[in-house]
Amino acid sequence: MKSAGAEIEALELRLLLEAIHEKSRYDFRGYSFASLKRRLGQARDRFSCASFSELQHRVLHDPKFVPLLLPYLTVQVSELFRDPSYFLALRTQVLPHLRTYPSLKVWVAGCSAGEELYSLAILFREEGLESRTIFYATDINTEALKRAEAGIYEIERIALFSENYRKAGGRTSLSDYYTAAYGSAKFDQTLRHRTVFSDHSLVSDSVFAEMHLVSCRNVLIYFNRELQDRAVGLFKDSLVRRGFLGIGAKESLRFNKEAEAFSEYCRPERIYQRT
Ligand SMILES: C[S@@+](CC[C@H](N)C(=O)[O-])C[C@H]1O[C@@H](n2cnc3c(N)ncnc32)[C@H](O)[C@@H]1O
Repeated sequence: MKSAGAEIEALELRLLLEAIHEKSRYDFRGYSFASLKRRLGQARDRFSCASFSELQHRVLHDPKFVPLLLPYLTVQVSELFRDPSYFLALRTQVLPHLRTYPSLKVWVAGCSAGEELYSLAILFREEGLESRTIFYATDINTEALKRAEAGIYEIERIALFSENYRKAGGRTSLSDYYTAAYGSAKFDQTLRHRTVFSDHSLVSDSVFAEMHLVSCRNVLIYFNRELQDRAVGLFKDSLVRRGFLGIGAKESLRFNKEAEAFSEYCRPERIYQRT
């Protein structure tokens, strides 16, 4: 049983999320509670507030405050070629199928600072599909979207990225795709010439149509069951028949309301095909 203190804290957190929803265009009310509680707990300490109610007070009375909370509300962890076996499976099992289409649309939903997008752009270039593909890279975190457009990462991250790239079946050296200067690695800007960056929420916005591949990794994990159903419904309506959906290693469509619209294409890599 929850203690009275824990119950009040949960109520305060719910009211904070309501205030954020009322005062901004962000709706986190259907996100997984435990993880929000932990991260907003960090925000509470960072902004020297004694409780979630105090944070709520700031949200209600300071219009500039919600953007300061956004880094705590959205998790930005990512890597180039994160879970390399996923990208290897795309390379060997999905791209040969996509090659049969004259033009392609790929949606990277919840793209964070662009690591997943650049991984896909490199993959599509190496497999000769880049010139017929348009990428849509979307996220609710506009600062992350700006970083995605810039394509600049700390040089310390490159060793991990290169190792992932190699394991993902990379055909050359990752250094062919970036220039190193002043402690940063700037990725080749032509990699994103065919990308449309856009502020889009899987919670409240509508479909992007006629996609051939939707890659939405490590995002559903932060949603409750109802929101996961909504997001997967969007992917279903966005995909052409026989189009592909890739989700994160810890995620599954197993209990999803829309699961019947998909078949398992590559089970270990959580790649599904729209039936
Ligand atoms: C952990 S990152 C995943 C990044 C990348 N897809 C990967 O797997 O490495 C989760 C991303 O989902 C985004 N996100 C959270 N809620 C979202 C929503 N409602 N609509 C779109 N993106 C969302 C966050 O801003 C964050 O950039």
